[in-house]
Amino acid sequence: MCGIIGYVGGRRDAGFLVIEGLKNLEYRGYDSWGVAWKEGRKIAVCKETGKIGCVDAAKIAKEGNLAIAHTRWATHGGVTTENAHPHLSCNGSIAVVHNGIVENYEEIRRDLIAKGHRFLSETDTEVIPHLIEEEMKTTGDFAAAVRRACLKFEGRFAVLAMHAESGTLVAARTGSPLIVGVGDHEGYFIASDIPAFREHTSTVQYLDDGEMVVTDGRSILFSDLKTGAEREKREIEITWETAQVQKGKYAHFMLKEIMEQKDSIARAVNQDEGEIQTLAEAIRAAQGTFLSGCGTAAKACMAAEYFFSVIAGQHVNFAPASEFKLFHRFLKPQSLLIVVSQSGETADVLEAMKVAKSKGAKVLAIVNTEGSTIAREADYTLHINAGPERAVASTKALTGQMAVLMLIAYAMIGKLPKGRTRLLETAAAINDMLNPRYTSFIESLAEKIKDDKDLYIIGKSWNYPMALESAIKIQEVSYVHAEGFAGGELKHGPIALIEEGTPCIALVGNDEVRTDIINNAIELKARGGFIIGVAPERHAVFDEWIKVPDTDTAQAIVNIIPIQVLAYFLAVKRGKDPDMPRNLAKSVTVK
Ligand code: AGP
Repeated sequence: MCGIIGYVGGRRDAGFLVIEGLKNLEYRGYDSWGVAWKEGRKIAVCKETGKIGCVDAAKIAKEGNLAIAHTRWATHGGVTTENAHPHLSCNGSIAVVHNGIVENYEEIRRDLIAKGHRFLSETDTEVIPHLIEEEMKTTGDFAAAVRRACLKFEGRFAVLAMHAESGTLVAARTGSPLIVGVGDHEGYFIASDIPAFREHTSTVQYLDDGEMVVTDGRSILFSDLKTGAEREKREIEITWETAQVQKGKYAHFMLKEIMEQKDSIARAVNQDEGEIQTLAEAIRAAQGTFLSGCGTAAKACMAAEYFFSVIAGQHVNFAPASEFKLFHRFLKPQSLLIVVSQSGETADVLEAMKVAKSKGAKVLAIVNTEGSTIAREADYTLHINAGPERAVASTKALTGQMAVLMLIAYAMIGKLPKGRTRLLETAAAINDMLNPRYTSFIESLAEKIKDDKDLYIIGKSWNYPMALESAIKIQEVSYVHAEGFAGGELKHGPIALIEEGTPCIALVGNDEVRTDIINNAIELKARGGFIIGVAPERHAVFDEWIKVPDTDTAQAIVNIIPIQVLAYFLAVKRGKDPDMPRNLAKSVTVK
């Protein structure tokens, strides 16, 4: 997911403003970056691969009131400075940054080359400034040219373009987020996420899908991208402070966000009772309820299948968002799709929502990001209120998502207060569990297994999705090959993988399946496995025991937390940056 920021207004240090803003978007993951600023009637550009280092002040304009910047996560074209954004028009007075994919770029590129345009990169993005330049030959107006160009693109995108001559910023979106920051007394920011400009303003305006915005720094105009009709936009005050998105006393966002779960789970539980009851009834009334999400959010959905089954006796169907469209035949107007997403911008989830809506089904979104596209396109929305999650590895969002889904399951059997109590007790137990002695014990375990090349995790019932989630966490931050299995599946193949000393984690609860999963651990041990038990009680089969509180139906929520800590320390001990793992982005806004 690329990062976008632009500024135009009374400030004369626009180049520095947008680079500082870009640093607040680093959590999204990137492999190159660039900045463009107005110099007279022309545009100057500085682009580099790798991380944003100390920027050479001589390179960046000291005097300038219009600039755009971008962090790129490569999709079309390799990681090179030529492919980094911003990209310029032939005449050098238009610069563009972009998030998403122009799916029909090859056809557009061929047409532009035939008209004499010269391309310097392999990217789809570079067709945008050249097409705008071509459109300006007929419209003469920058904003009108951007509109006409954007209407020729296919695919989901967010575009931010600057024009040196008119001194304006124009942005348009279909599917990838863009938010306007209203400068306190001068200027406007336009960015893909609020942290890019949060230290300069707390007043924002959301650009919706199919909309465009034009500003010269003094005034601003929102309009419908297709018709040009003007759109009114409310100014919204953002309440959280930048401090919340800084690491504070922690070395990494990931550890900070793991430790925040003492509080974030309680915030997730603090939902409007009437709203939860209404959604519970909507699930009861639906003819087919589907759960869908991606990655870690998908594991919250899988855990919810067990919550709805075991707690509420309700059948729901999970499908990964990228697979959901293959089940469209089962969708009716009376169906309900529940989507779960931390960022609220995941392209596969938006696609799943489109399929459900095409069949007339209703959509409930459980998200962590206010104002996100998924939140605004759903029929009902619940916020988990976990606060900004900056690490690419999702931790506090997962447990918040599971808490909300469990609450709904309890509401379905008229026991919402019991569910709330269970979850608040769980939050309190996590508060006791997450102490320095506990995390240093887990750090010592990470030290023991950090050089192992394979690691397996088993679980049963709601701990099976947590075994899969454990694998994602360990894979994505430490790059260790980890795999999760349903304990009962071992003897059908995976147990062949076990060698002397292979680390195997068993996720255990004091529930009806405890004996089964302990027996699975015994099978692993018999073949040489080094057994790490995550359980409320010790057992002889465990070579190492990570004690967790007994939280009954909420056991999956507590069992995943020591694994998050283990994954974090495995990454650090293997010299990796747990906040910005290679090849990954915080939100996958492309299909
Ligand atoms: C989780 O640690 C990963 N970063 C990834 O799997 C993530 O959960 C997935 O991309 C879904 O993101 P979302 O919750 O923002 O939709």
